[in-house]
Amino acid sequence: MQALYPVALFVHVLGVGMLFAGDGVTYAVLKSLRNASTSGQVRVVCGAMRWAGPLHMVGPLMILAGGLYMVATAWGWTTAWIDVALVSFAVASYLGIGVSQKKMKALAGQAAAAPDGPIGADLAAALQDRTMWIVSGVLFVWLAAFLYLMILKPGWTVSIAAMVISTALGWMVGVRNAARTAASVTTTAGVLEG
Ligand code: HEM
Repeated sequence: MQALYPVALFVHVLGVGMLFAGDGVTYAVLKSLRNASTSGQVRVVCGAMRWAGPLHMVGPLMILAGGLYMVATAWGWTTAWIDVALVSFAVASYLGIGVSQKKMKALAGQAAAAPDGPIGADLAAALQDRTMWIVSGVLFVWLAAFLYLMILKPGWTVSIAAMVISTALGWMVGVRNAARTAASVTTTAGVLEG
């Protein structure tokens, strides 16, 4: 069984590459949304999320398949950095699929239904959704935390501290991005109404 360990590690790290690529697309989409000033622009930018979908689906499955194999054959289930990674990965999957993806799909749906022209109040509200920005901020910073766990393989205290610190950092990034978006979207709406 151990003979396949390098193959599992390869599959795992290839999945990590896909996850990073998917998050890169998401990051570019979110950054571009901040500069959109018409519903048409929001539609086009949201359309780019279709590139992230397959990467976010296949990447985590490969991470999980390779990771579980390596844990089962070599590391065991009571290793601190692995258990913290497993729990965090489950939480990240829920946040990614259950919150972030849902919010972005709703945003794309609203953009698709909106009439052409400047961004209206409903679409502006969806663009300013704080939960969407905070969750994506946390998920971005968690990538670094996962790499830290995987490469430095710390004990319980440091593993948990890494996740807590990265959550706080990601939260701050998200709050800042939400505030910046609110400022730029409000300006557009202000110009509209004025
Ligand atoms: C389900 C959660 C995960 C489990 C159970 C897991 C498990 C593992 C295991 C057992 C290794 C082999 C370590 C070694 O041979 O030295 C490994 C390596 C690695 N993992 Fe994970 N992993 C998980 C999630 C992740 C995530 C989300 C990322 C990145 C975002 C990641 C990135 C890496 C990297 C880069 C390596 C190579 C490290 C090295 O060879 O030193 N893993 N992982």
